Amino acid sequence: MYNGPMPKLVWLNGEVTSLEDAKVSVADHAHLYGDGLFEGIRIYGRRVFKLDPHLDRLYHGCRFLGYRMSMGQEQLRQTILDVCAQADISDGYIRLNVTRGTGLGLDPKNINQEPNVMIMVSTLALYPPEAYETGLNVITTSFRVMSGDSLDPRLKCIGRYAANIMAKQEANYAGAGEGLMLNAQGYIAECTGDNLFLVTGRTIRTPDPSCGILKGITRDTVIELARNAGFEVQEGFLTPFDIFTADEAFLTGTAAEVIPMVRLDGRPIGDGSVGAVTQEIVGLFRAETKKGVPFDAPVTA
Ligand SMILES: Cc1ncc(COP(=O)(O)O)c(C=O)c1O
Repeated sequence: MYNGPMPKLVWLNGEVTSLEDAKVSVADHAHLYGDGLFEGIRIYGRRVFKLDPHLDRLYHGCRFLGYRMSMGQEQLRQTILDVCAQADISDGYIRLNVTRGTGLGLDPKNINQEPNVMIMVSTLALYPPEAYETGLNVITTSFRVMSGDSLDPRLKCIGRYAANIMAKQEANYAGAGEGLMLNAQGYIAECTGDNLFLVTGRTIRTPDPSCGILKGITRDTVIELARNAGFEVQEGFLTPFDIFTADEAFLTGTAAEVIPMVRLDGRPIGDGSVGAVTQEIVGLFRAETKKGVPFDAPVTA
């Protein structure tokens, strides 16, 4: 029984279908081994936000993993826009999945390497609206991220997520909104589904990609917006010391958007309230979300 927000539309390997009828084989390589890639992409005001960076990340992942994608990036881009138009959705969330193919045994040469491609158009609210006003309480979880030299920060593969799910569960048990994950060296990496930023005066710091983070597209967007607004943005090696001595903290992610983080392990960050810089970044981000790729573009003759 499916238990999430009801998707408006699912496109699977060329067919538009209902959620119930969208089926892949149980021998799909992502089902058997986590051998797949995904992207979560937001729709704001009938525009797909950061569509091209998401597609670039996906196609770079396909090339890196050696997937035999017969569908080109431009064709997938157009299909996503068409599916969104068909779903007739104003604000929502697209889940885009690509798996290697179908067959038992982990050796790719022994399986049918025809990727399964899915576009699911749905809605998603990760946190209640109040959390964006009051900020999140975060705990440090006992689960570490995989090192950046094992799992490149640019690879958004399904197999990345086992530790993140355990970390999220640990945060749930503790009644926290998110779980912070360190890397094996004890440096701060990220939260289970979002990147972390710290604010001190006009300086904004975020973990370096080599710390074992996913190089988030919202992270890139916020770095650019903050720099354009005159902030000094530094990528570096941060420890909990940096969190407890920062004025403010916030998290970024496609699903989470930009959300303040006000406590770590019960201890306030700064004065424990949502700070002015975080509010400024939230405002800049919200304005930016209006600039996605429209899917209602007039048909030209
Ligand atoms: C582990 C992890 N870190 C960070 C992010 C944020 O990435 P993005 O801004 O591309 O959504 C995500 C989002 O999916 C994630 O799963």
